[in-house]
Amino acid sequence: MVISTLQTTWPEPIVRVQSLSDSGINAIPECYVKPIKDRPSTTCSLLVHHHESSHQPDIPVINLANLYADDPTLRKNTMDLISEACREWGFFQVINHGVSHRLMEATRSVWRDFFHLPLDVKQEYANSPATYEGYGSRLGVEKGAKLDWSDYFFLHFLPLSLRDESKWPSLPSSCRELVGEYSEQVLKLCGKLMKVLSLNLGSEDEDYLENAFGGKQGIGASLRVNLYPKCPQPDLTLGISPHSDPGGITILLPDDRVSGLQVRKGDAWVTVKPIPNAFIVNLADQLQVVSNAKYKSVEHRVVVNSREERVSLAFFYNPRGDIAIEPAKQLLTNNEPALYQPMTFNEYRTFIRLNGLHGKSQVESLIKSRPN
Ligand code: OGA
Ligand code: NI
Repeated sequence: MVISTLQTTWPEPIVRVQSLSDSGINAIPECYVKPIKDRPSTTCSLLVHHHESSHQPDIPVINLANLYADDPTLRKNTMDLISEACREWGFFQVINHGVSHRLMEATRSVWRDFFHLPLDVKQEYANSPATYEGYGSRLGVEKGAKLDWSDYFFLHFLPLSLRDESKWPSLPSSCRELVGEYSEQVLKLCGKLMKVLSLNLGSEDEDYLENAFGGKQGIGASLRVNLYPKCPQPDLTLGISPHSDPGGITILLPDDRVSGLQVRKGDAWVTVKPIPNAFIVNLADQLQVVSNAKYKSVEHRVVVNSREERVSLAFFYNPRGDIAIEPAKQLLTNNEPALYQPMTFNEYRTFIRLNGLHGKSQVESLIKSRPN
């Protein structure tokens, strides 16, 4: 099922969405036009209707300040709020998360500046489907596939063996340093959340999930910076197609000026309204597997607009690549057998790198046909 070698070239010449947008076209090329059923308006119209009759729900906002309060009741309350958000939504915003607001702003701003550098400067970092590191404009190598209206920059932070700062932008000159500091701080936030989730899943060991993911030395972490250029026909396309994130947990720093992220809630797409200085946290596929579906990764997508470009930073906290990820033994009972087959994250990711993102089909392909 899994092909382990990835090709090093794209099936078609790469076109930068930003260049298309800047060229001033007023109709988007056919390869970005989604089938009618996948367009944002199809489901948005339902939402507008819904919105008029009742208040549209929003993802929970959780204040992490009390996670370390002296008062155990306050700590417990915060943990319970996180537990509910994980079970009900798989998505929440966090405030008082410990990451410097100035650093968040500076890092987002340096990436905005990177994307505004001349094309030939950025092209030096052009990526390939072998590792995806660098400046990219598509996911998946299927010829003739429908493409998303976005460019991105992808880099590895952990494990150290994969960290190669020479592949990070050398311009703007503060970029590498900011990425390093930002990633270090966001990684700490991931560590805190993994402890909370371990306890919330019923483990007595707060390091349970980190260890299931290969331990401190094995954890993977990467950053994908997304650029969603202005789009002359935003109703025909998407910035990112519906997908769940493949790894453990994702910490998203959204744009401070314009929204675009939508989260699936039942049949509806809920637009996230980012709070200043907050992060958006979402649970990803490997956590669904380890928790044996007590927690579920949630589908999300990005819509674009014709007025303003959007920048976001997605920090992915992932298991070690070469160990089997499987449902936690301690969560299994006769009545609740393992739902998923074990798979390494390297294999899992290869699948996505070849096929692109398709909703939750990837994690669902791990469902055992018959419980054992
Ligand atoms: C992602 C993602 C959402 C956004 O990069 O996986 O879902 O708002 N990004 O950019
Ligand atoms: Ni995502």
